[in-house]
Amino acid sequence: MNILIINGSPRGKKGNTEIFVKHFALGIKAPCEIRCAANEGSKQLAEYSQLFDTVIIAMPMYLHAMPGIVMKIVEHMEPAEDGSQRIGFIVQSGFMESAQARYLENYLSGLAKQLNYTYLGTVIRGGSAGVSMMPENMNKKLFAQLKTLGEQFDLNGSFDKEVIKTMARPVNLSKGKCRMLQCMNRFGIGDSMFWRYMLKTNKAFDKRFDKPFRNSSGTT
Ligand SMILES: Cc1cc2nc3c(=O)[nH]c(=O)nc-3n(C[C@H](O)[C@H](O)[C@H](O)COP(=O)(O)O)c2cc1C
Repeated sequence: MNILIINGSPRGKKGNTEIFVKHFALGIKAPCEIRCAANEGSKQLAEYSQLFDTVIIAMPMYLHAMPGIVMKIVEHMEPAEDGSQRIGFIVQSGFMESAQARYLENYLSGLAKQLNYTYLGTVIRGGSAGVSMMPENMNKKLFAQLKTLGEQFDLNGSFDKEVIKTMARPVNLSKGKCRMLQCMNRFGIGDSMFWRYMLKTNKAFDKRFDKPFRNSSGTT
């Protein structure tokens, strides 16, 4: 097995996807190369991927979809002639619940079929927007899961179903959890602390209720 991992984040090496890729690759002993879509031409990277029997594309979810730079790469990929190549995906996103990535997952499994690649599955992890800003010990569990995922991938050539299941939790938010989050938000604790910090850091706190696309009649 020779593996190409593509980091499909527009933020390149500075983003959360890079951290996912690095910890996944820690578990892999087979020949494995990591390339960063943000630093390379999409056509060249698509052509280069043909030299590998296994391709993993890791990406952040942007607007419930894949980032444009990943789209460009897959559009340049040619269908495999003999069907011997394999492809899998790692999708990480900001909102907690993984259910919102199911549409993208459907697209990715269909894409593997179109390309005549064996589909290895899609690992989905929500609640990941703060990974690069959190202290190491807060990411300990995630990093261990990613390393195990890499080790199992190295052993079996596929993503471990149990690890995929665990990482995808919560799939949906229960009504009780939604109510609790709303309540925490009202008191400015939990996730809202992080977003307040981000808004202030980016000097956007005073503009948080702006509606730039709303016209004077009040419609959008
Ligand atoms: C333009 C943009 C759109 C986003 N859209 C979503 C989204 O639809 N759902 C979601 O859960 N997170 C969304 N996010 C959050 C990112 O998926 C999350 O912050 C991710 O960790 C970013 O990874 P990166 O640092 O590798 O780019 C979005 C972020 C940006 C910048």
